[in-house]
Amino acid sequence: KEVVLSGIRPTGFLHLGNYFGAMRNYVRMQDEYNCYFFVADWHSLTTHPDTKALKTSVHRVIAENIACGLDPQKVSLYVQSDVPEIAELYLYLNTLAYKGELEKVPTFKDKVRLQPDNVNAGLLTYPVLMAADILIHRAVKVPVGKDQEQHLEMARNFADRFNHRYGEVFPQPRAFNFSKELVKILSLDGNGKMSKSENQMATIYLSDEGELVKKKIMKAKTDGGPAEDNAEKPDYIQNLFTLMSLVSSDDVVKKFEVDYSQCNIRYGDLKKQLAEDMAVFLKPIREKATAIQNDNAYLQKIMREGAEKARASARATINIVRESMGVKY
Ligand code: TYM
Repeated sequence: KEVVLSGIRPTGFLHLGNYFGAMRNYVRMQDEYNCYFFVADWHSLTTHPDTKALKTSVHRVIAENIACGLDPQKVSLYVQSDVPEIAELYLYLNTLAYKGELEKVPTFKDKVRLQPDNVNAGLLTYPVLMAADILIHRAVKVPVGKDQEQHLEMARNFADRFNHRYGEVFPQPRAFNFSKELVKILSLDGNGKMSKSENQMATIYLSDEGELVKKKIMKAKTDGGPAEDNAEKPDYIQNLFTLMSLVSSDDVVKKFEVDYSQCNIRYGDLKKQLAEDMAVFLKPIREKATAIQNDNAYLQKIMREGAEKARASARATINIVRESMGVKY
């Protein structure tokens, strides 16, 4: 079976971007592949040094993954810091990564702009740790949203460099989505991608209750409607249609598509329908996640078993890595 890996930072509760960009694919991959999914707690320290809420977030991310349909019996669901082998590989890969290339990464530049007082080395080497996360299981498919594309390219570069210098150890990991195109869900205010920590009213969390979902969707950015038949949709309108295609029935989507193409669209109606269908979609996930989150014994068991599976795979890779590097005496 091909190895699949992906991770989510516990920097807050999960939102529709995380779900449709990543988690939905995890669930669809779990039967066919050898899957490793993890909570990237070390990564979150580079941007969220305050760890007061960390434990709750880690538990919630685990709970939400299971609530969305991930079966911990089928996959390894673990927390990054439970697998110290990742840190060892990170150290080796750091000697193959160059300061210049790391400084050019767009996400690093964004972070420098966002947190000028905390441009820590962890931020700079974020793509190296991410490569270690992936290569530690010698994964080939990495289900992620579009925002992670560049990081995957760097992981391939580091893998190549390692193989070139120390011998063929790592396969090439590739970003994966079932529909070929990687997904990018926009923020409801139309300003960039939906994200955990930006405008809360423009982000729909999996934990949001129906009324709040409705409030957020009704406030989503729209415009005066299309100016001519079969007009192309601006991205913030396309985003509402994308969300609708994910939670509403085909008939409903088709109706609004036709209305749009005939300049007949009523955004109020579209939003109301979307809000209703979204609330129906989210309710069971929210309820299940909360039940799991409150069951500490179960959570501990899942994290322990997940870490065991992940460490077995990680140890095997580290042994090969040390052997090929000559770090073995
Ligand atoms: P993170 O925690 O920001 O997001 C988790 C996953 O959700 C996807 N995603 C989105 N997809 C579509 N539209 C959006 N608006 C949106 N927002 C988030 C992300 O692409 C991601 O798949 N660096 C990673 C975590 C990570 C990782 C890894 C991922 C660490 N190591 C190794 C894969 C492999 C991150 O910050 O994701």
